[in-house]
Amino acid sequence: MKNTTANRLFSMKKTIYVVLVLGFVTAVAAPVNSGNKIIQPPIQATAINAKIINPIVDKEKIQADKIREKESAEAFKEAYKVLMHPRCMNCHPSGDAPLQGDDSHIHAQNVTRGKDGKGVYAMKCSNCHQKENVAGLNMPPGDPNWHLPPANMKMVFQGRTPAQLAAQLKDPKQTGKTLQQMLKHVEEDQLVINSGWNPGEGRTTPPLSHAEFAAKFREWIEKGAVIPK
Ligand code: HEC
Ligand code: HEC
Repeated sequence: MKNTTANRLFSMKKTIYVVLVLGFVTAVAAPVNSGNKIIQPPIQATAINAKIINPIVDKEKIQADKIREKESAEAFKEAYKVLMHPRCMNCHPSGDAPLQGDDSHIHAQNVTRGKDGKGVYAMKCSNCHQKENVAGLNMPPGDPNWHLPPANMKMVFQGRTPAQLAAQLKDPKQTGKTLQQMLKHVEEDQLVINSGWNPGEGRTTPPLSHAEFAAKFREWIEKGAVIPK
């Protein structure tokens, strides 16, 4: 007896639940008819909005990315003008001898790189290149750290196109540095600053100031270090 009463109560509850649930579903799913216009329930309306808004957001993002990539590549092309200037390229040669002058001819006196970039035997860079520029025309420019990149990491600029040089500078295997470390080198290294913008009497300087050059190099990296076409 007890069981039957309990069962009946249980099945009554079930019926109530079913009715309630059905009622709810109908209320939510059924379009509300107000006058002639059929108003979509809010859930569906949100779904429709989402479909319309997302492609716009995506498109804007794609546009913004394109602009950023273009600016990064353009910034590198500006920095490239400095990297390839004789004041810089003369120490970043494709061969094993440094170069001299605005025509980047091979260094006189058979000077060569040596394993550590500091020259060989009696032809050590520091024999002639002092801590500071020696006064007078055609005298050796100076810096306490005056030497070529080492033989196992030559960091060649000479002959590289903008695309080739950008790809090389991004490759830690060819630089031994992260892009952040390279940026610091470009912004702060005394050899970069001295050799480019205090090159000694009679020598030309790169087309950008050091600050402009460093800013372009930073912009290139911060906007994604894009390899220009
Ligand atoms: C006297 C020779 C010399 C001159 C001139 C010179 N560099 Fe360098 N450069 C080096 C050496 C050596 C290194 C490696 C230094 C290091 O890793 O600490 C180097 C490294 C670099 C690097 C890092 C490259 C890499 O692949 O890691 C950049 C960028 C650079 N120089 C830019 C310049 C710029 C810009 C100028 C001109 C303003 C310039 N250099 C002039 C000798 C020179
Ligand atoms: C025997 C002396 C001597 C030695 C050794 C020497 N140099 Fe020079 N170097 C000079 C002189 C002198 C000049 C200036 C030439 C001129 O302006 O006509 C010069 C100029 C340069 C220039 C050209 C600067 C410019 O912007 O045009 C670079 C680069 C250079 N040397 C790098 C080196 C490196 C790197 C080493 C060592 C591997 C080295 N030199 C060893 C005497 C020397």
